[in-house]
Amino acid sequence: MAILLINGSPHPKGCTWTALSAVAERLEKNGLKTTWLNIGVKPVRGCIACGKCAQSGHCVFDDDPVNKAIDLLRKAQGLVVGAPVHYAGPCAAVCALLDRVFFMKSAPYACKPAAAVVSCRRGGASASFDRLNKYFTIARMPVVSSQYWNSIHGNTGEEARQDREGLQIMRALGENMAWLVKCIEAGKAAGITPPIPEPWEATNFIR
Ligand SMILES: Cc1cc2nc3c(=O)[nH]c(=O)nc-3n(C[C@H](O)[C@H](O)[C@H](O)COP(=O)(O)O)c2cc1C
Repeated sequence: MAILLINGSPHPKGCTWTALSAVAERLEKNGLKTTWLNIGVKPVRGCIACGKCAQSGHCVFDDDPVNKAIDLLRKAQGLVVGAPVHYAGPCAAVCALLDRVFFMKSAPYACKPAAAVVSCRRGGASASFDRLNKYFTIARMPVVSSQYWNSIHGNTGEEARQDREGLQIMRALGENMAWLVKCIEAGKAAGITPPIPEPWEATNFIR
């Protein structure tokens, strides 16, 4: 069983990585594998709403990590997304990536536990955390909690390592995710099947 960790920071060993590493350490201690995807510093396009992915299952643009993220998430049993806070929201690259990972092709992610982790110097953690959780909760993914909202504070990896409570939150998140993933596997082995969704009643406000 593997959990996909997406590091949305441009800093390969920054604060977000520090937080995700603490989660990963507990996942691995509990016998789960971890697969990492670093978004890095190259551009990630926004969604152009062409809708072609509804048939193909992949994005028409194949020059950034989006299609790789889709494939890795389909194989994984769980997901942790980490993002630095930029102007009180998750950084633009993470939002661009997740818009395209989730839009019109999220059915295979249903019932996979997911969690968001955010990193900021001082403010905007809560709003960013809420924004990221929106992707999971529109895709029928159970959101894994910790003992507080999942944020770490600092400007550098070294500063984040001094946030003792933040690191404790990340360790608790790793423990809770490992437990839930194992419960889901045990449930499957015992014949508990996932809920079958109703056909989508797609309404809007003009009809
Ligand atoms: C463009 C930009 C905007 C930022 N906006 C905020 C902000 O709104 N609130 C905050 O506390 N920190 C803000 N920061 C600081 C980062 O969130 C903080 O340094 C973060 O922990 C970096 O994580 P990383 O090392 O994983 O990239 C901003 C940084 C950048 C580059």
